[in-house]
Amino acid sequence: MTLIDSDATLEPLEFAVTKNLTAKNPSERAQILADPGFGAHFTDHMVDLCWSQKGGWHRPRVQPFGPISLSPAAAVLHYGQEIFEGIKAYRHADGGVYTFRPDQNAKRLRRSARRLALPELPTEYFLQSLRELIAVDADWVPSGDDQSLYLRPFMFASEAFLGVRPANKVAYYLIASPAGAYFTGGVTPVKIWLSEHHARAAKGGTGAAKTGGNYAASLLPQSEAYENGCDQVVFLDPDGNVEELGGMNVVFVHADGTLVTPASDSILEGITRDSILALAEDRGHTVERRSVSLQEWRDGVASGDIVEVFACGTAAVVTPIGELRAEGFTDTQPTGTLALELRKELTDIQYGRAEDRHGWLVRLDA
Ligand code: PLP
Ligand code: COI
Repeated sequence: MTLIDSDATLEPLEFAVTKNLTAKNPSERAQILADPGFGAHFTDHMVDLCWSQKGGWHRPRVQPFGPISLSPAAAVLHYGQEIFEGIKAYRHADGGVYTFRPDQNAKRLRRSARRLALPELPTEYFLQSLRELIAVDADWVPSGDDQSLYLRPFMFASEAFLGVRPANKVAYYLIASPAGAYFTGGVTPVKIWLSEHHARAAKGGTGAAKTGGNYAASLLPQSEAYENGCDQVVFLDPDGNVEELGGMNVVFVHADGTLVTPASDSILEGITRDSILALAEDRGHTVERRSVSLQEWRDGVASGDIVEVFACGTAAVVTPIGELRAEGFTDTQPTGTLALELRKELTDIQYGRAEDRHGWLVRLDA
């Protein structure tokens, strides 16, 4: 199990817990957990913390899940000063609740905070927020195949102020949503739409941060993807290099066994991708993080040098890409077995079915 670096000077927070008196009863919960879908149902509680320029992090609470009271002048509603994370909790066969590499999500949240001029939440507080929520909502962690509790930490500028500057008052929340497969078709190859007229990120922009604006920018092209019979959209940089999908990284498998994934400072550094690539390296595969042009992708598929293409992310896990569609062409993608083998290896670790040899798991309920 991972030992998280801890800051010995940081006292644990004392959370004030208010139980939800109208929490779902066990049969209502069981009905939701039988088929949770993705992102549509929420647990009974949420965690929140405030931050102010003067007081730092304060007022840690666990409260009933419910509407947030916010000034209509809150800066986030006007200037989008917001960041978030996505991480899952898994039920193991022994009943324990574990999460996966939370130190990495905590670090990325801090990187996103720096880019969005938000305060950095200490890793210890991030972890404590996960534990506090699981302490009250552990029954919401499902135990079905490929099911998990999706945890959504987020932070936003709550200060009521219309001047354009970093907010002096910020809120951090953690909510949770039981999850099944992200794509309704399960783990069948997905179709990807090439966004040729819209970019997700810019050089020097916020592409590497997990901030709402990047997702807002992806929605119009995502609608184009749906209109064209595709599940997700893939973005290019201004030089025609492949970046990533709206909510997932992309990996190309070459005939010689090399795995190649786009590297750039406008891509979200995926924790799933990093883990999958580590597992592939353990198997003896070479891994390259470098620019990949659309031309290289298309030529590689045409020549047989690219033998598999897959998407990966916390929500989608690992999903093969079966087709790349654009205005002028449709390229069928080759499918092999590696993506699904790596998916199985990763999920076996996450669900406690295989040895956690990298020390990636952290228990949340003990
Ligand atoms: N890229 C984007 C834009 C995402 O939203 C995500 C999902 O979080 C990823 C990549 C994959 O990141 P991770 O594997 O850490 O979930
Ligand atoms: C995640 O995988 O955690 C994401 O944030 C992606 C989103 C499409 C749900």
